[in-house]
Amino acid sequence: MSRVLAFLTCILAVSTALAEGNAKKGQKLSETHCARCHVVGDFNKFGGIGSTPSFNLLVGMKDGTERFRNFYERRPHPAFITVPNVPRWTKLAPYATPFEVTPENIEDVLAFVRTLEAKRFQVAPTGGSSGRREDRIKDGRK
Ligand code: HEC
Repeated sequence: MSRVLAFLTCILAVSTALAEGNAKKGQKLSETHCARCHVVGDFNKFGGIGSTPSFNLLVGMKDGTERFRNFYERRPHPAFITVPNVPRWTKLAPYATPFEVTPENIEDVLAFVRTLEAKRFQVAPTGGSSGRREDRIKDGRK
C-alpha cells in the first residue's frame, strides 16, 4: 500500500512540476532578459529602467499572474519578444534586443514570480481602480 502511495505521490510531484514550470529556470531567464528593464527581485534592486514596473510590484497586483501569463502580448513587449506560432500584432521594429520565449519559458517565469514576495501595490495611492479606497476597505486591506 505504501509503495503504491509513494508511486502516486511521485507521479503527482512530477506532473505538478511540469505544469507549474521551473522557478530556477524562470529566474535565470528573467535575470538574463527582463532585468534589462525590470527590477527582478533581489537580482538588480537598483537596476532596471525607472519607468518600468518592478516584478514585485507587478506580481502583487490583483491580476498579476495574468499579466505575466500573457506579457508578450502586452505593450511594449510585442516589439521585441516573439513566441513561436503566436503572430505579432505590431509591425514596430524591435527597439530593444529581440528574443523569443516558449510557452514552457513562460510557465517557468510564472513559477519564479510566484516566489517573489509580493509588494502590497494596492495600498499605494494610485489612480487605478485597484488603488481606490473603497476597494481596499472592501477587500479588508488598510
Ligand atoms: C526593453 C525593456 C523591457 C524588457 C526587456 C522587458 N520588459 Fe516587461 N515591461 C516593460 C515596460 C516599459 C513595461 C510597462 C508597460 C506599461 O506600463 O505600459 C513592462 C510591463 C511588463 C508587465 C506588465 C504588463 C501589463 O500590461 O501590465 C509584465 C508582466 C512584464 N513587463 C513582464 C516582462 C517579462 C517576463 C520580461 C522578460 C521575459 C520582460 N517584461 C522584459 C519593458 C520591458
